[in-house]
Amino acid sequence: MLELAIIGGTGVYDPRILDDIREITQDTAYGKVTLTIGQYHGQEVAFIPRHGSQHSVPPHLINYRANIMGLKMLGVKCILATAAVGSLNLDLKPGMFVLADQFLDFTKNRINTFFDGGEQGVFHCDMTVPYCSELREAVAQAAQECGFALQNGGTYVCTEGPRFETAAEIDMFKQLGGDLVGMTSVPEVCLARELGICYANISIITNYAAGISPTILTHSEVLQRMKESTSKVRKLMLESIKNIKPERNCDCVKIMDQTGVKQ
Ligand code: HPA
Repeated sequence: MLELAIIGGTGVYDPRILDDIREITQDTAYGKVTLTIGQYHGQEVAFIPRHGSQHSVPPHLINYRANIMGLKMLGVKCILATAAVGSLNLDLKPGMFVLADQFLDFTKNRINTFFDGGEQGVFHCDMTVPYCSELREAVAQAAQECGFALQNGGTYVCTEGPRFETAAEIDMFKQLGGDLVGMTSVPEVCLARELGICYANISIITNYAAGISPTILTHSEVLQRMKESTSKVRKLMLESIKNIKPERNCDCVKIMDQTGVKQ
């Protein structure tokens, strides 16, 4: 049964982390999604490279609704999502993993809900703790088993992109309590929550953010850092899958009582 999915961010494009892979296209009310389904540790796992297999889709143009709805239609209940991020916190160093537990939303032009009125109705989704605590625990335990430096908890500031931030913006985000900055976790995590899917963000720090870094930022620097982390990311994801329990007792599931969305 397919219940787990990996959404690979920048630098995580290769579905061959799974065995026995096959590609499928899932039609949704929001557009088509092409994804790979494979096996790991006796479980079926879906894989979507968020930016496309060749990194051709920028953060502000990702069809987040099609991706999340496509996974829901296939029966997915838990998503592990990777994200390359900048660090606003000197204690969180390049190469470290952080599991975000909160976000600050600075996106501007994204469709961020399945509930647009009309047939879907209006729904105000709880977002007190957007990232699933049980899934985070499974990943944190895996990091410990692998001996990887990981912080469980941190505030992810989501910007609209595709440009990097100004030093003044980073200074403001820091004063607001941000630890990490990236361009994709919102609305992805919100859409997952609206459908009752557990979602964990595995942030991989690729650089210190603008104004903290002594040099200007480049996408190639981010890609290079991700390349250096590939084997660790892969190992962390796969070990995490082994730790995910089939029964869910987290708040993510309770949303479905309010929306009428089915398991
Ligand atoms: N800012 C925004 N997104 C990012 C960064 C950053 O510094 N690094 C990796 N993704």
